[in-house]
Order: sequence, then C-alpha cells, then structure tokens
Amino acid sequence: IKGVDMPIIIVGSGYGGAVAALRLCQAGKKVVMLEMGMNWGKSGLPYSSLLKPEKSAAWLKTKTIAPFFNIFSIKPFTGVLDRLDFEHINIWVGRGVGGGSLVNGGMAVTPKKDYFKEVFPNLDTEKFYSVYFPKARQELKVNIVREEFLNECPYYKFNKVGEEEAHKAGFKTMRVPNVYDFSYMEKEYKNEVPRSALNNEVIYGNNYGKNSLDKTYLQKALETGNLEILDLHAVDDIKLNEDASYTLNVRQINTSGKTVSEKTFRCQKLILAAGTMGTLQILLKSNAVNNFPVNENIGKNWGNNGNFMTGRNWVRPLTGGTGVKQSTIPVGGVDNWDDPEHPFFAEIAPLPMGMDVATALYLQINKVDKKGSVSYSNGKLNLDWNESHTQKMKENVDFFIKKMNKANGGTRAHFLFKDGFGANICYHPLGGCVLGEATSEFGKLKNHQNLFVLDGSLIPGTIGVNPFVTIVAITEYCIENLIKQNEFA
Ligand code: FDA
Repeated sequence: IKGVDMPIIIVGSGYGGAVAALRLCQAGKKVVMLEMGMNWGKSGLPYSSLLKPEKSAAWLKTKTIAPFFNIFSIKPFTGVLDRLDFEHINIWVGRGVGGGSLVNGGMAVTPKKDYFKEVFPNLDTEKFYSVYFPKARQELKVNIVREEFLNECPYYKFNKVGEEEAHKAGFKTMRVPNVYDFSYMEKEYKNEVPRSALNNEVIYGNNYGKNSLDKTYLQKALETGNLEILDLHAVDDIKLNEDASYTLNVRQINTSGKTVSEKTFRCQKLILAAGTMGTLQILLKSNAVNNFPVNENIGKNWGNNGNFMTGRNWVRPLTGGTGVKQSTIPVGGVDNWDDPEHPFFAEIAPLPMGMDVATALYLQINKVDKKGSVSYSNGKLNLDWNESHTQKMKENVDFFIKKMNKANGGTRAHFLFKDGFGANICYHPLGGCVLGEATSEFGKLKNHQNLFVLDGSLIPGTIGVNPFVTIVAITEYCIENLIKQNEFA
C-alpha cells in the first residue's frame, strides 16, 4: 500500500468536478483529481458508434447496455457508459475523464426561472440568471442549430416530423441548445470533416464535434499547470482523521477492471464530485464500513428528474417515417410546462437504428411529486423508489401519447417498452445531498470542516429540464463563494 499526501483532492471528473478544478487551479491551488474511468483523449482509442459497439460501449460488461436492442456481445473493458440496476429503475451514467459529458446528448437547457425559484427558494434567482447561467453556457460552448440547416438536412427529419406532429396535436415546441458544435455538424454533412453525430456516435462517446468537458473546463484547468488527473483510480471508501483531514482508500485498475495497485491518499480538503449515485455510494458506504459521520439528510430528497421514456410506433410509415438517417444530437422539445394539469417537457429524441423503424422516441421530463431516498445495506446502495413515485409521470405520458396519436395516428410504442411506458429509464439522477439541507449554503457537508459535495446530488431530485447547465451554474456559485471564504487557504 502506497500512501500519498495531497492538499486538495477532487473525486470525479464530471461537471461538478471539472468546474471546481478550473476555479481552484485559477486561484493558484494544486489539485489532484481521481477518476475511476479512463482518460480516452490520452489513450488514443476511438469511441465506438451505436451500430458497432466496441471498447467504449460499456463499463466492464459482456453485453451492450443501451436503453434498447442490446443484441451485441462485447469484451469487458472500461468503457464510457455504465448502468446501475435497481428494482424499479435503471440509471445510466458516464465513466471516464469528463464523466457524463462523454455519453450525454449535449442538450444544454437553462431551467425555467419560476421553477428554479421553486426548487431553490433560498438562492438569488436574479443573480443566477444574470451571472451563473450565462457563465455556464459560455464555458460549455453552448450553441444553437441554424434553422436553414435543420430544414435541408435529412438527418433531422425525425425532428421535423416530431415538431409537425406536436403542433398538429396542439402542443408548443422549442429549439433546444446543445454543446455539440453545429458548425462542425454542417461540415460533416458536406463531407468536409470526419462524421460523428451524423455517424451514429453519442452514448458510447463522440470522436468529433461534441464539446465535452475534456475540451472545455478540464482542458482549461490542465492549461494552468495546477491540475493532475489520475484516471482508472476508483475511490472505495473514505475515513475522517483526528486532525480533520481525510484518508481515501483507492484501487488503481487496468482496462479489464482488475486491481493493479491499492493506494491510500490523504488530503486536507476533499471535494466529492462523483455524480449523484457515486457520491452517495462513497458517503453511505464509508458510514457503514468506517463509521464515517454523515448527517440525517444524506440520501434524502432523491429523484429521477421526472425522467420517463416513451414512444410511438408506426409514425407515418408510408411516407418514410422518421427517417433512416438520424443525427444523434437532439434539437427539439415539446414544452407543455405551463399546463397546470399535465406539466412536462419532452425531448424529441433520435432513434438512429440504421433503418426506418417508423418510431418516434421521447424522453419526457416531469415534476417529481414524490421524492425517493437512498440508503446503504448488505454491501450495496438501495433506492426507495417504486411505481408510486412515477404514477403522476405516467399519467402525463399517457396524456401526451394519446393526444399525439389522436391527431397524427400511430400506436403506443409496445415495440420499445413493455406497455409502451419506460418509467424505469433514468438519465438524470439528482439529489440525496441537497444544497442547504445536507450541506451548507455553498456545498460544505454538514458536521465536516473540510469536505465539500459539488455535483448533481445538490439538486433536490428535480429541475424540470436536462440538468448539466444547472449543475455547472450551481458549482460555479458554490466554488466562487467557498474560495472567497478562504475554505481552501
Ligand atoms: P458525472 O456523472 O458527470 O461525473 C461523475 C464522475 O465521477 C464520473 O466520471 C464517474 O466515473 C466518477 N466516479 C464515480 N464514482 C467514483 C469513484 N468511487 N471513484 C472515482 N471516480 C468516480 N444532461 C443534460 O443536461 N443534457 C443531456 O442531453 C443529457 N443527456 C444524457 C444522456 C445520457 C445517456 C446520460 C447517462 C446522461 C445524460 N444527461 C444529460 C445527464 C448528465 O450527463 C448528468 O446529469 C451529469 O453528467 C451529472 O454531472 P455530475 O457532475 O453530477 O457527475
């Protein structure tokens, strides 16, 4: 066992970790980041496409773990996409330097102001909308697709059909910003550069075009010379020392997942940014095995951000359906948030299967009326979450699909989901370590002097839109104030 002493350690290289790293490094602090996944940029290995899953497709699995059609056998490798399976819900997460930014659809949505205020009544809403959200969008390189390109590009037929059908059914739609560089996509379309979004790349990683965190926050942080990223380093559990420092038990693994070295790291300041499920796993497991002090709010106020996947089959089957060729990057959504009875936002999602399946796919985001909770027992995380938590979401989905089918034809997507409902599909786990409840107003864990949580677990289970812009804005706010208060002096 090797012991290493560090001033500041950040666990996890997703949104919260990357933002914290940049601001600390710019303030002249030396930071070490531990990431269980691989550094794909450095490895030189390519990401695989949806239609040809190879090394990057899954985290140490023998079969692919996409939401549908897992007909591919693969060799276990430290790939970028992982799935955590619970009784009533499967949760997908990203693994690798860049966290969820490596696998997500890049949808960069700022929440509705009123809903943000409702979710975070104690935050200064005006300041968030004038300072932290604009800063987040700028650093993340958020951009919007050109309408002329959308109209001419056959790869966006699925979106055109989706919007036309929504309008026919009386719904409002909205253009969704993204971190995928749309000027790059236009060049892809003209075959001037290698294809990525137009070549079925997304949830197993994008080789080009997507401004994932390794190209934005993390790259900037590395350029300061103050950040060291250790990839393939998984934190198993942590201990609180008598001098209020922390000891981390860490396994260095190889790309087959085998432990090559067991290490302990000691640090003065610890930032947990392992994502909602990763941070909860570390805190609750450490509590169980090391008597690590956690407050009663940890694990509470967890939610799936109202994620509910659904679809419709045989959408315009005789007129070419939703298109054989589909870009992997979503650009449209149905905005029904202001309907008091059925408030929801539904992403018009691509289904790039390489053939026309005449199927429309939607990821609906709802309010979370009944929150769940997370605990740890028998050596694993447990989620208190069942059909009662998603009942209202199911009613919204039912309302949406029925209205769409009535206006446009089509059937519930039995082809994709049992009964046409995908209540068990979650891309946005949030909460469990809620800002101002389990932590101080700036993310310092209650009952601790030197431990901070900065990731999706700060958001109380719901934010009404895809969450990473909010995770970035909240982290910008927290880290700015923590640095101002000399927490890392
Ligand atoms: P995040 O999960 O990004 O990062 C945590 C990191 O910590 C990971 O790299 C992980 O490997 C590492 N880690 C965990 N445990 C560890 C341990 N014990 N030791 C060391 N490292 C550890 N959102 C959005 O806004 N728009 C979108 O379009 C999408 N689309 C989407 C698609 C898919 C398929 C998924 C899975 C998710 C999305 N999301 C999304 C969600 C978004 O990606 C997600 O909310 C954020 O990545 C969460 O950011 P965090 O900073 O909380 O952690």
